[in-house]
Amino acid sequence: MFDSGLGGLTVVRHLRRLLPQESIVYLGDTARVPYGSRSPEIIRKFARQDAYFLAGRNVKYIVIACNTASAQAEPDLVRRLAIPIMGVIEPGAATAARESAGGRIGVIGTLGTIASGAYQQAITAHRPEAEVLARACPLFVPLAEEGAQATMAARLITEDYLAPFRDAAVDSLILGCTHYPILEAVIADALGPAVRLVDPGRALATALAGDLAGRDLRCAGQDEAQQQYFVTDRSARFQELAERFLGHRLCSPVEQVDLD
Ligand code: DGL
Repeated sequence: MFDSGLGGLTVVRHLRRLLPQESIVYLGDTARVPYGSRSPEIIRKFARQDAYFLAGRNVKYIVIACNTASAQAEPDLVRRLAIPIMGVIEPGAATAARESAGGRIGVIGTLGTIASGAYQQAITAHRPEAEVLARACPLFVPLAEEGAQATMAARLITEDYLAPFRDAAVDSLILGCTHYPILEAVIADALGPAVRLVDPGRALATALAGDLAGRDLRCAGQDEAQQQYFVTDRSARFQELAERFLGHRLCSPVEQVDLD
């Protein structure tokens, strides 16, 4: 699994819960995070380097935990690599399209994810009559990284970002960024209990379990699953951030690598 940084650890949580027997090799491109504000060409280049690094570790499957990389680079990676690849867009969009009561679906994500139109296209491919409203919420990433999800600042910014979704009376909202599940409570408060929040990381874990089984790739061994973590930079706040996104202490080994 790779991500632009440590946010993808929110996806690791779901994978470990649903597929505890599967070993995970995680690469966080912490030296070059964020991807969300970069050009499509650079995102595709970074994603290629991330994916080739994992392919070189002999993985059986590549998961793109990063919404921005999934939105901008997944088709390119699928063309280039022989290993099966799954990003978060399709499982997140399919879940929202299936579970939305009235087909009024909101999407929030980084600038790169929203500009790509990937969620919007994937939702209407599943449900052509769906009305999709999409908006970038770039300040959510630093709020989640600062652990500021329960502050007045988070409440005000969330109210402001989500007002158009309330006005449009969406019935579902896709949390289209690895960091947004950290803000789930403040987002739920702003939209009210009638709006279903869709976490693409959770949707991916379910879809991955099905695809691994369909390809006969499920791990059948009795050995304990391993986790290996690789990062491209290890800042002073690494441990604190990693544990916030992972939701528990990080005890597995972490190695710094240079993708060049
Ligand atoms: N991981 C990114 C995503 O899910 C968010 C952080 C970034 O901009 O790189 O889109």
